[in-house]
Amino acid sequence: MISGKTKLFALIGDPVEQSLSPAMHNAVFKALGLDCAYVALRVPKVMLADAMAGVRALGIAGLNVTHPHKVSIAGILDELDESASSVGAVNTVKNERGKLTGFNTDGAGAVRALEREVGKLAGRRAVLFGAGGAARAIAFSLVQAGVELTIANRTAVKAQVLAAEVERKFGTKVALVGIERRALGEAVKRADLLINATTIGMRPNVNQTLVTADMMHRGLVVNDIVYEPLQTKLLREAKRAGARTVNGLGMLVQQGALAFEVWTGKRAPIKVMEGAVKRELRRRGRL
Ligand SMILES: NC(=O)c1ccc[n+]([C@@H]2O[C@H](COP(=O)([O-])OP(=O)(O)OC[C@H]3O[C@@H](n4cnc5c(N)ncnc54)[C@H](OP(=O)(O)O)[C@@H]3O)[C@@H](O)[C@H]2O)c1
Repeated sequence: MISGKTKLFALIGDPVEQSLSPAMHNAVFKALGLDCAYVALRVPKVMLADAMAGVRALGIAGLNVTHPHKVSIAGILDELDESASSVGAVNTVKNERGKLTGFNTDGAGAVRALEREVGKLAGRRAVLFGAGGAARAIAFSLVQAGVELTIANRTAVKAQVLAAEVERKFGTKVALVGIERRALGEAVKRADLLINATTIGMRPNVNQTLVTADMMHRGLVVNDIVYEPLQTKLLREAKRAGARTVNGLGMLVQQGALAFEVWTGKRAPIKVMEGAVKRELRRRGRL
């Protein structure tokens, strides 16, 4: 029930209509009996500063931030948590009496989701596809978790910049590889973890993948963070190779759970969040 004391949380981005976050967070508020509500607000790129003034004026308690604001919002917040300043992007904002602090829960969410499926990541060798927003966050968190990292990205210079930043922060070497089949195949052969953090395979390009079954092996764990669709071409190929697969739902839930923890200081009920996301996907005929 919405009351006179209801605390409001929102996702801002453009577009936001397809987001699963309102279903996920409202389910948690209900399950824990919190007088809170979560809405999705479309904020065009040029309206971001006005929207943030609105957040302060209206006392919106917390935000999730998605495309196209994740990077630009970092410059107009009062403070950045280390999770956001290292990555240079924000996906969560906490409003404490008008002071807005930015966090990034994508990387830690991805690591938590993977560790929940396959155990500790320390000492594993991972190939990460991508150097965009999500990949950047994941790269920092993987190395922080003790992973030996190789980055593969179409635009080589973006991968080089990311590798240099991660190396500078953690003092460990990050390897680079091109996305052509032969080089990628060699890197994947030596890896025990493969993570796709590109938009390849995402609807409508559901038949795209950078690697095929013949390039993967049984001992490999393959995680596609794309969740539209849940069963991507990459994961279908990985199954054909006998590899273990992890879809993008776990990261979605864990980054949301970490955002909830930032806002409320309470532990998030993962099962409730998972259930809500699956119900919403089923309702849309996507599961
Ligand atoms: N599960 C979750 O919780 C979660 C969270 C965040 C994001 N995601 C998903 O992660 C994906 C990436 O999101 P993002 O925000 O990081 O996007 P982004 O910042 O736009 O980055 C896109 C990445 O994909 C690469 N790419 C795109 N098209 C390509 C192609 N045809 N060939 C090779 N590389 C290509 C880009 O390479 P270049 O650098 O060369 O352009 C870049 O590395 C999306 O599908 C998003 O839905 C999932």
